[in-house]
Amino acid sequence: MKSKTTCTPLIAREQVDREVARLAAELNRDYQDKHPLLIGVLKGCFIFMADLVRRLDFPVEIDFARLSSYGSAMETSGRVKVLHGPRAAVQSRDVIVIEDIIDTGLSIAHFMKYLQQKHPSSLKLCALVEKPARHRAPVKIDYLGFTVPDKFLVGCGLDWDEKYRNLPDICVLERHE
Ligand code: IMP
Ligand code: MG
Repeated sequence: MKSKTTCTPLIAREQVDREVARLAAELNRDYQDKHPLLIGVLKGCFIFMADLVRRLDFPVEIDFARLSSYGSAMETSGRVKVLHGPRAAVQSRDVIVIEDIIDTGLSIAHFMKYLQQKHPSSLKLCALVEKPARHRAPVKIDYLGFTVPDKFLVGCGLDWDEKYRNLPDICVLERHE
């Protein structure tokens, strides 16, 4: 039998906007004279990062990285690879990594280690959402939007099997057999 999926709003777009504004205010306070390098983790970061950087009032450089993805699974395989690292040099830069969601933390823990080996002046993590119940690797999130329960989320850049990234709210995805 074919399974059906439903998307139920959990965090409304307006709430996301308010939280992004709050995070931008923190970054504006902390990075005023620093010209940091922002590295977005593709693809999920694209909406969060676009909203965030338009609220920053200091000079920034923007780059992207791509980590190995889930495919159609709802859980990481635990084997993480950096498919494309940032093109910009990281050494001696103030780096801020922009992530959509921290689930097990395995992907971002691996990526932060990869960046740390390139000797940035400072390295911070900014994430829109975290699911603390699922953490399997220690991750320090320096700038965090929302803490959410252990549900699979879509919308606002988050996908399931490349679908639903465009939903304006953050929604819970459920599959019914
Ligand atoms: P982690 O390695 O388990 O922390 O997963 C990291 C990546 O998996 C995130 O950056 C997302 O791209 C994806 N991911 C984790 N949880 C979800 C979810 O609930 N919805 C959509 N993507 C997710
Ligand atoms: Mg991601």
